[in-house]
Amino acid sequence: MRQDNNMRLLITGGAGFIGCNFVRHVLEAHPGYEVVVLDKLTYAGRRENLTDILKEITFVHGDICNSDDVYDALKGCDTVVNFAAETHVDRSINDADAFVRTNVLGTHTLLEAARKLNLQKFVQIGTDEVYGSAESGSFIESDPLNPSSPYSASKAGADLMAHAYFATYGLPVSITRSSNNFGPYQYPEKLIPFFILRAMRDEKLPVYGSGLNVRDWLYVRDNCSAIDMVLHKGQPGEIYNIGAANELTNLNITKMILSHLKKTESLIEHVTDRLGHDFRYSINSSKIRALGWKPERSFESALQDTVDWYIKNEEWWCGLL
Ligand SMILES: NC(=O)c1ccc[n+]([C@@H]2O[C@H](COP(=O)([O-])OP(=O)(O)OC[C@H]3O[C@@H](n4cnc5c(N)ncnc54)[C@H](O)[C@@H]3O)[C@@H](O)[C@H]2O)c1
Repeated sequence: MRQDNNMRLLITGGAGFIGCNFVRHVLEAHPGYEVVVLDKLTYAGRRENLTDILKEITFVHGDICNSDDVYDALKGCDTVVNFAAETHVDRSINDADAFVRTNVLGTHTLLEAARKLNLQKFVQIGTDEVYGSAESGSFIESDPLNPSSPYSASKAGADLMAHAYFATYGLPVSITRSSNNFGPYQYPEKLIPFFILRAMRDEKLPVYGSGLNVRDWLYVRDNCSAIDMVLHKGQPGEIYNIGAANELTNLNITKMILSHLKKTESLIEHVTDRLGHDFRYSINSSKIRALGWKPERSFESALQDTVDWYIKNEEWWCGLL
C-alpha cells in the first residue's frame, strides 16, 4: 500500500465521453495522483479524446471482459473507477449482445480482480435509467430497479453485481447513478451533440414521438466533481444519485439548441417514438448533496459552452458523421 495519500487510479472507459472529462478533472484536482486508463477503443472511445494529456497518464488498450488486460492495467493501482460500458439505448434495442458482455460480464471481471488484489476502493458508474420512468416525484437510492431498455437492464445488472461484491466479500464498492450528461467530447449519436451538429448544417432534427419526454440534464464536469466526492467521501456499499434538477422536455432542449445557433424551429421533425421509451427520469440527489457536492454550472451557460465547443472543434467530429 502507498505511504502517501496519493492514489493510483485505474479509470476504465477513460477514452469515452465522461471518462475523458473525469481524467482531466483528476489531473487538475489531484496533481499527485497517477492515472491509468484501460479502454477498448470502441466506436465511442477515441484516443483523440486524450491527445493533450496522453503524456500525463498511462494508457492501456484492452477489454474489461479480458482478465489478462484487467490485471495488466491494474498493476500498482489501489482504486478503480469503472466508466467502461456500451451506452447508447438505441443500439441496445437493435442488438443487446455487447451490452450484456461489457456492462455485466466486464464489470464482474473488474470486481473479481479488485477483490483478489484487495483494492482500497471501487466506484461503479451507473445511471438513473435503472429506476425506469418516474410517473411523479423523484427516485431515491433505495427505490426498486425497473429498467426498460436492454441498456438500462445491463447497467442494473452491473450495479447489483457490484453491490453483491460489497455484501459478500466486503469489497469497498460505491455506486453513482447520474442523470443525462452533456458537454465536450460526447459522441454525436447522443441527443445534444447530434442535434447541435445537424442544426449547424441545417439538417432536420428528428425528435422522438411528441418530444414531451423529460430528462434531467447534468453538465459533465459537475458529474466529475460528484464522482470525485464519492471516490473520496462515499461510503462502501452505498449508492449516490447525481442530478442537477434540470428537468426539460426533449422538445425544450431542441428549441434551446436551435436558439443558441440562431436556427429556425422548422428544422424540427417528429419521428416514430423509440420502443419502450421511458417518459420521465427524475432523481433525488439529497444524499450526495449532504456530502457537500452541488452542481456549479447553470444549464443555460453550460449548454452555450457545449454548443461553442462543437463549433470550435470541427476536426474532432467531422469524421464521425
Ligand atoms: N452519458 C450519460 O449521459 C450517462 C449518464 C449516466 C451514466 N452514464 C454511464 O457513464 C459511463 C460512461 O458513459 P459515456 O457517456 O462516457 O459513454 P461512452 O460511450 O462515451 O464511453 C464508453 C467508453 O467505454 C469504452 N469501452 C466500451 N466497452 C469496453 C470494454 N469492453 N472494455 C474497455 N473499454 C470499453 C469505450 O471505448 C468508451 O471509451 C457508462 O457506464 C454509462 O453507463 C452515462
